[in-house]
Amino acid sequence: MIIFFDSGVGGLPYLQYFRQNNPSENLIYIADRINFPYGKKTKQEIIHILVSLFETLINQFQPKLVVLACNTASVSALPTLRETFPHIPWIGTVPAIKPALIESHNRCVGVLGTDRTIDDPYITELIEKYREDARIICIPAARMVEFVEKRFFEANDAEKQTIVSPYIKQFRNAGADAVVLGCTHFLFLQTTFRAVAVPDIKIYDSIAGVSHRIEAILDEKNIRDKTGKVPAECRFILTGVAPIEQKWFKWASDLMAEASVLHEKS
Ligand code: DGL
Repeated sequence: MIIFFDSGVGGLPYLQYFRQNNPSENLIYIADRINFPYGKKTKQEIIHILVSLFETLINQFQPKLVVLACNTASVSALPTLRETFPHIPWIGTVPAIKPALIESHNRCVGVLGTDRTIDDPYITELIEKYREDARIICIPAARMVEFVEKRFFEANDAEKQTIVSPYIKQFRNAGADAVVLGCTHFLFLQTTFRAVAVPDIKIYDSIAGVSHRIEAILDEKNIRDKTGKVPAECRFILTGVAPIEQKWFKWASDLMAEASVLHEKS
């Protein structure tokens, strides 16, 4: 069984994508809703939360692999998690800055992420490593994270455009022709992003890269599902005791169901 993890709904598009190509893998999606949002926490707080949470999750589910489908969790805690639980293969999610830089004609790339992700030395080092003569503009977008988690499931297209447009405008004004979605929550808005960004800005995300990485590790370790049973189990777990908004829960559950339907058809 593979765990996909995020502070909220952000990792669901990653799970869906992986599941479409790997329908017989058993998956559990964990949304750490009680600690949402991660983006406003310190690195130490995130490390503390994740080490204690994964102690329980690993004991309970004995996963063969864990995907941190959360940039904030990955840049903050991946090295500590690898050290603390060395028998688990961990796959992180980081902003797709490298391909954006390679393809940017203007040599100007925009990165959208949480405050925590953008402040992390990992991102600064990545930028320094590939920058050369390029400019990289990082904008924290906590408001958009909140929007996706709390409003997206009932928002109309106009509302989505209102959220996305000011960010694209800032990047466009700065001369960027490549924008990286550096927070998994933003994947839900990718259609709006692409619509607002045409014709001069290309949008980058890490969804396919992460999925291919999972497949590569499954092959390398020879731990792919051998039963071929389709559709496999796909569970959805939220942390916290507070009642979850019914609409949100229905929306997230529908997404999961949709993933299964897609596989049955393919
Ligand atoms: N989805 C998370 C990420 O990719 C962040 C959301 C949060 O702030 O909790 O960074």
